[in-house]
Amino acid sequence: MKGLLVYHSKWGNAARVAEQIARGLRDSGTEVTLLDIKSKVNLEAEPAFDFLIAGSPTRVGNMTSPMKRFLKNHIKSEWEGKDFAAFGTGLKQRDETDKKSAERIHDVLESKGLRPVALPFKGTVEGMKGPLAPGELERALDFGQQVAAALAES
Ligand SMILES: Cc1cc2nc3c(=O)[nH]c(=O)nc-3n(C[C@H](O)[C@H](O)[C@H](O)COP(=O)(O)O)c2cc1C
Repeated sequence: MKGLLVYHSKWGNAARVAEQIARGLRDSGTEVTLLDIKSKVNLEAEPAFDFLIAGSPTRVGNMTSPMKRFLKNHIKSEWEGKDFAAFGTGLKQRDETDKKSAERIHDVLESKGLRPVALPFKGTVEGMKGPLAPGELERALDFGQQVAAALAES
């Protein structure tokens, strides 16, 4: 089993979370390709992936524009039925109406017919540019391990 973990990050916080999730997966024996949305990788040239993990910072209660474009342009019918998990970073949640990128990405992927294996992971930053709140990298590592376990069962 091999998956794609794609992320967008402006100041590096979502990138750090992505790296920890990838570490959690790999520690559990799950193969994953880590892809920075800003890099010019040709996904069409890659072999098919079995699962998708996608994450970005929160922008005005949503995912970032590069992540929106990525999902629109690259996540098509061949991904239907495949497992996914979503993550993101954002400021401390005010209340349950305060939506974060992770939930938006989760909803879009589910609407495209992918199957969630975990609840969205919402990493907290202490200010616009970070840093991540204490304990968030450990939580991200745990999340990667949980996703690996769920993938193995699905
Ligand atoms: C224009 C702008 C809008 C933002 N809107 C939100 C928001 O609605 N909710 C939130 O939690 N964080 C918001 N943030 C904070 C970002 O989520 C934070 O900068 C990001 O998570 C840091 O991740 P990065 O280092 O990977 O870019 C906003 C930041 C910017 C610059």
